[in-house]
Amino acid sequence: MNILLTGGSGYIGSHAAVVLAQAGHEVVIYDNLSNSRADVLERLGRILGQAPVFVHGDVRDAALLEQTLRHHRIDAVMHFAGLKAVGESVAQPLAYYDNNVIGSQRLLQAMQQCGVRTLVFSSSATVYGEPQYLPIDEDHPTGATNPYGRTKLHIEQMLADLAVSDASWRIACLRYFNPVGAHESGLIGEDPNGIPNNLMPFIAQVAVGRRPQLSVFGDDYDTKDGTGVRDFIHVMDLVEGHLAALNFLGGNAGWHAFNLGAGQGASVLEMVHAFEHASGRKVPYQIVDRRPGDVASTYSKADKAWQALGWRARRGLDEMCASTWRWQQADVKQKKESL
Ligand SMILES: NC(=O)c1ccc[n+]([C@@H]2O[C@H](COP(=O)([O-])OP(=O)(O)OC[C@H]3O[C@@H](n4cnc5c(N)ncnc54)[C@H](O)[C@@H]3O)[C@@H](O)[C@H]2O)c1
Repeated sequence: MNILLTGGSGYIGSHAAVVLAQAGHEVVIYDNLSNSRADVLERLGRILGQAPVFVHGDVRDAALLEQTLRHHRIDAVMHFAGLKAVGESVAQPLAYYDNNVIGSQRLLQAMQQCGVRTLVFSSSATVYGEPQYLPIDEDHPTGATNPYGRTKLHIEQMLADLAVSDASWRIACLRYFNPVGAHESGLIGEDPNGIPNNLMPFIAQVAVGRRPQLSVFGDDYDTKDGTGVRDFIHVMDLVEGHLAALNFLGGNAGWHAFNLGAGQGASVLEMVHAFEHASGRKVPYQIVDRRPGDVASTYSKADKAWQALGWRARRGLDEMCASTWRWQQADVKQKKESL
């Protein structure tokens, strides 16, 4: 199939490009490079033997989208493009609604115009809001607690409405838990600008010496060691879930939501220790106050994806940490070489 990856030069999209191309699909990446760099293409070329086609464009540009869908005879779209920082979304809600919600609406309009009706959407476990029970299954009530989460919820609802209006749409909303790790080559990975928002890149930057220490927000939660528990999922497992979802949509029309998580939680300190083990480096940390809005534990029930898609996460914490460490070291080296 010819598959368009919006946001395909970003962290998750670039890994999806590898898995899809290796499964025999033709991949076209469409990205405005607002949070990624064009050299990802060259790195993808090193992994795949040939770089995917790249279109420098914004998802709000309906005309360019239509032209791209037609020119490359696109059969299906994976929609990764979006802004994703919770704190920033609180400070700049309009930018988030514009980029995420309007961008998705334009994409859907262009798809409709061109007769492309298969979509895999990057949703998030944030649509569940505060957990009302654990593990979180897909029937858990939704209700996001910040503008970023609300954009995901609005897009999911727009997609559900679309599927009701026209039975030929095939839509999978994949609700990611906490993607971490990198491709085994060390050539692609998560490369946040500025101070990382997420735990794993922060730990990696401490281990490599770019930051002095990690702040652990609270050690008095009702969890195994008092620190927060999250459902970490290896990015390669996550993108294999996209391939499984695409195959599922081949035989199933309508709107579908799936959790993509490991189905179990790991604590912040477990992650720190696993990283120390994988890297052979000490990760200094200090315990600081809880962060407002953080919950003690959250993790998925991933049975629906297993039953419907035949997919489940296979890689453990050690592999998540080892691949992140390989990427972190290679990335530092590549950045030094390009100076
Ligand atoms: N990484 C996570 O922890 C996580 C968790 C849940 C959901 N998600 C969702 O998964 C998707 C991918 O996340 P990621 O971690 O790869 O983020 P990322 O920032 O690395 O990748 C997103 C890509 O989209 C591009 N982009 C942003 N706005 C665009 C626009 N208007 N037009 C074209 N391109 C645009 C960026 O340049 C970037 O390359 C996002 O939608 C995100 O909300 C991510």
